[in-house]
Amino acid sequence: MPRAWLLNPPVFCIQIHMSSTKSRLTVPKFQAMKVEGHKITMLTAYDYPTAELLDQAGVEGILVGDTVSEVVQGHANTLPVTLDEIIYHAEMVGRAVQQALLVVDMPFPSNHLGVTRAIESAGRILKETRCQAVKLEGGAEQAEVIAGLVGAGIPVMAHVGLRPQSVHRLGGYKVQRDEQQLLADATAAEAAGAFAVVLECIPAPIAAKITRTVEIPTIGIGAGISCDGQILVVNDLLGISGGFVPRFVKKYADLRTTISGAVTQFRNEVREGTFPADEQTFK
Ligand code: KIV
Repeated sequence: MPRAWLLNPPVFCIQIHMSSTKSRLTVPKFQAMKVEGHKITMLTAYDYPTAELLDQAGVEGILVGDTVSEVVQGHANTLPVTLDEIIYHAEMVGRAVQQALLVVDMPFPSNHLGVTRAIESAGRILKETRCQAVKLEGGAEQAEVIAGLVGAGIPVMAHVGLRPQSVHRLGGYKVQRDEQQLLADATAAEAAGAFAVVLECIPAPIAAKITRTVEIPTIGIGAGISCDGQILVVNDLLGISGGFVPRFVKKYADLRTTISGAVTQFRNEVREGTFPADEQTFK
């Protein structure tokens, strides 16, 4: 090594060191945030550039949700997306995430085919995507599957309350109000070894009670302010989603208007002959 480098290391050495020390949030650190009273932020992501932006903005968790079926693939619900398709999206997201905990949804019905097949599916997700955990919809009736996955070394985030994969049984996307059942689901998920639990569409007082009862972090979506963290579908938060948007969503941007304005301006300038101008033209 040239002597001068010892006194004045070249910039590229520092950069290599910095990038190699970056590490992703681990499951135990994610759990410790509840004890520390540090609110957890999570968003969904389905592609590389979005995941990179969310990660750099400092959210603690990124979920490759089965909502990809609705907001990216254009289906009416979350049922159609397949294991291969979730893995395809999770691979892109996994390449972008440097800091957040990365969780991938188990698509319907991959967690309902017995413990062995659930381990096979979740194992594929972990092996092929750089994710650290899976999420599955279910509480008490999924306890055996959760325990099987955890026993295989696969961290599980449970999901109780409104379970969109059960939309046909529930008869729609309704607020879930059965306090006893909700508490039983969350506590069963915790006892089975889940490291966190999503609470979807639950009255705030019930979510608060669950949050006080379980030691694992609760991540709310339509479950009020008392949850240990909050998650939203990124397309809803950014105002990309068209059509019905649930009441629990807050739109922090209006990208639909921004994107359609930009595209309309491009179309107009091409038609008028003002794009490309001199600045965009090679001479
Ligand atoms: O699939 C998903 O995006 C989800 C979140 C809405 C929690 O399950």
